Amino acid sequence: MTAEYQVHGTVAVITLNNPPVNGLGLATRTAAVKGIQQALADDAVKAIVITGAGKAFSGGADIKEFNSPKALTEPSLHTLIATAESSTKPVVAAIHTVCMGGGLELSLGCHYRVAMPGAQIALPEVKLGLLPGAGGTQRLPRVLGLEMALNMIVSGTPVASDKLANTALFDAVFTADADLVSSAVAFAETIADVRPLPKVRDRKVDYPNHEAFLQFSRNTVKAMSGPFPAPLECVETVAASVTMKFEDGMKFERERFLHLIQTTESKALRHAFFAERVASKVPDVPADTPVRAIKQAAVIGAGTMGGGIAMNFLNAGIPVVMLETKQEALDKGLATIRKNYENTMKKGKLTQEKFDQRMALVSGTLAYEDIGQADIVVEAVFEDMGVKETVFRKLDEVMKPGAILASNTSTLDLNQIAGFTKRPQDVIGTHFFSPANVMKLLEIVRGAQTGKDVLATALALSKKLKKTGVVSGVCDGFIGNRMIEQYSRQAGFLLEEGALPEQVDKAVEKFGFAMGPFRMGDLAGNDIGWAIRKRRYVEKPEISYSKTADLLCEMGRYGQKTGAGWYDYKAGDRKAYPNEQVNAMIVQHSADIGVARRKISDQEIVERLVYSMVNEAAHILEEGIALRASDIDMVYLTGYGFPLFRGGPMFYADTVGLPNVLAAINKYAKGHQGSAWKPAPLLVKLAEEGKGFNS
Ligand code: NAI
Repeated sequence: MTAEYQVHGTVAVITLNNPPVNGLGLATRTAAVKGIQQALADDAVKAIVITGAGKAFSGGADIKEFNSPKALTEPSLHTLIATAESSTKPVVAAIHTVCMGGGLELSLGCHYRVAMPGAQIALPEVKLGLLPGAGGTQRLPRVLGLEMALNMIVSGTPVASDKLANTALFDAVFTADADLVSSAVAFAETIADVRPLPKVRDRKVDYPNHEAFLQFSRNTVKAMSGPFPAPLECVETVAASVTMKFEDGMKFERERFLHLIQTTESKALRHAFFAERVASKVPDVPADTPVRAIKQAAVIGAGTMGGGIAMNFLNAGIPVVMLETKQEALDKGLATIRKNYENTMKKGKLTQEKFDQRMALVSGTLAYEDIGQADIVVEAVFEDMGVKETVFRKLDEVMKPGAILASNTSTLDLNQIAGFTKRPQDVIGTHFFSPANVMKLLEIVRGAQTGKDVLATALALSKKLKKTGVVSGVCDGFIGNRMIEQYSRQAGFLLEEGALPEQVDKAVEKFGFAMGPFRMGDLAGNDIGWAIRKRRYVEKPEISYSKTADLLCEMGRYGQKTGAGWYDYKAGDRKAYPNEQVNAMIVQHSADIGVARRKISDQEIVERLVYSMVNEAAHILEEGIALRASDIDMVYLTGYGFPLFRGGPMFYADTVGLPNVLAAINKYAKGHQGSAWKPAPLLVKLAEEGKGFNS
C-alpha cells in the first residue's frame, strides 16, 4: 500500500505514502481511491482527511511513471480527483511542506483545504513545457482569482501557504506549532455535517474586464516565452476558466495538455529534466559508495579560472586557500574575487553580511606548506604539461594522505598528470567552465586509476557547488571541447567557402545558440585556440584547419580583450561590429587557396556546425568517454549555450532522424574539406537500425 488508512473517531485519515514526495503513481492513486471508498462504506465515518507522509503532502505526478503507460492506467489522477470531489462525505486536504502539480490539483478537488504555514504551493508543469492537466487551470483561478492563478501557472514558481492564507484556497492555515493531522481532524469534525458540500468547480471567476487583462497577459507572456509554446497555452487555458463553463474548460485543458505533451519543446524539457538526474549515476559507482569529507579546499593559480573556482567553494561555505607563484598575481586574483562579490552586492543580490562571511573564508599563500591540510586541491595553472608536472609533483609531496588532487585542465591527458604522483587514485579532473562562478557545467574527468570514492566525492561536491556534474573519460578535450573543435573547424571551412563571420553567427544564433562561433571566439580569446592549434600542427598534422583564424591572430586581433577580433568592439560595449579588413582577409584567403566563393545557405551552416559535433559525439559515446547520450546533451545545455528547446545535440539529432543526419554528413563529405567528415560507426549503425541516440 502506498497510502495508509486510519480512523480517528469519526474521521478517516488517508495518508499518501510514496517517498520521497508522495508522487501520485498508480499504486498511490489506487490506494487513495480505495481509502475514500472504504470511508464512504463505513457508517461510523463522517468525514475524510487526505494528507501526506514524510516530507510532502504530494509533489504531484510520480516522475518514475513519466512516459510510461502506468501514468494513464486507471485510476488516473482525474479519477482520483473525481472520486474525492464526488464523495458524499466531506474530504479535507491537509497540506504541509510540498503541495505541487497533481498534488495541488488533488487538493483542489477536495471540499476543504487546511495547511501548515510555509508549505510550497505550485503548479510547476510549465517548467516541463506542459500545463496542469488535471483541472489546475480551471480550479486554481476559482479560488485564487484570475490574476494570481495566472501568475502561478505561467511561472510555475512556488508560493508559501501562509502567503495564501486569506484566499479561498485555504479554509485554515494553522500555526507552526500545530499538529497537522489532529488539527485537520478537529477541523473535519466541525464541518462534517455541512451540506451542500462546497466544490471549487461551482465557484465563479470574477474579474471585471477580463478580456483586457487576458489580452495584456497574452502579449506579455508571448514576448517572454521565446520558442516555448507552453506559457501561452497556460494563458489560454486559464482564460477558459472565465470564458467557458467548468466542464468545457476541463475539456479544453485536456486537449491543450495532450497537444503540448507531443511538442518537441516539451519533450526537450522533459529530456533535460531526466538527463540532469541521471547524469550523477555511474554504473560501477553505486549510490552508497563512501565519499570523502570536503571541509577545506585549496586552489592553485589565481587567474581567470582559479578565482571563479574559489568562489564556488566560498559560496558553499567551504574555506579556500589560494596559492600563486608571485605575490602580485595572488593579490590580483584575490582582488578580483572581492570585486566580483562587490558587484553582486551592488546589484542587491548579496548582503553585506554574506559578503563578509565569504571574504573571511578566503586566504592566499605562496607556500605549499600552507595548503597541505586541504581535503581537495584544484589546480588551475597554465595549460602546459611542464607546469602541471611541477605542480602535481609538489602536491604529491605536501598534501595530506587522502586529499583529492584535482586538475582543471581543459585538454591535457589526466592520466599523465596522475602519473606525476604516487597516488593516481586520488587524482581527478574537475573541468569548470568560464566564468567558473556562473556556468552550471562541471565536467568530472575520470582517470584510468581514479578511485571510485574520489569520483563519488566529486559528484557529491558538484551538487554542493550547485553544478551539473557530468562524468567524462580521458581524451583530448573531454566531451565538450572535443566536440566544439569539430564545430570550430567547420566554422573556419565555411569562411573559406563563401560565408563571413556575421552570417555564420547569425545563422547559429537564429537556431538558438546563445552565441555564434566567432562572437564566442572573440569572447574567449582567439589566442587560446591559436595556441591549441599550434600544438596540434605538431602532434596531429593530419588534422586540417582553416588558416583564417591564424591569420586573424597574426593581425593581433585576439578578441574583446584587444578590442578587436573577428569583429570590432567599442569600449564599454559588447556589441560586435563587422570589420572590413577581416572580411577582406577572409575573401583573399579563399583566393589564395583557390576556392571559388559561393553563397552558403543558413541551413547548410547550421547543419555543418551541429552535425559535425553530433558525429564526434557518436565517437565519444562509442569509445565510452561519455556514459550515455543524455550526458552529452547535459554538457551542451549547461556549458555551451545549446538551445534548451532543442534538448541538446543528441536529442536534436534524434528529432531530425539519424538517417537524415547521416545523409547530410555523406553529402558534406563530398564537398570542400570533405575529409573532415567521416561518419562515426555508431551513427551509421543506429541510422540503419532506425534507432536514436537516446532511445
Ligand atoms: P590564467 O592564465 O588566467 O591563470 C593561470 C594562473 O596560474 C596565473 O595566475 C599564473 O600566475 C598561475 N600559475 C602559473 N604557474 C603556476 C604555478 N606553478 N603555481 C601556481 N600558480 C601558477 O589561466 P586560466 O584561463 O585560468 O586557465 C587555467 C587552467 O584552466 C588551464 O588549465 C586552462 O586550460 C583551464 N581552463 C580554462 C578555461 C578558460 O576559459 N580560461 C576554461 C576551462 C579550463
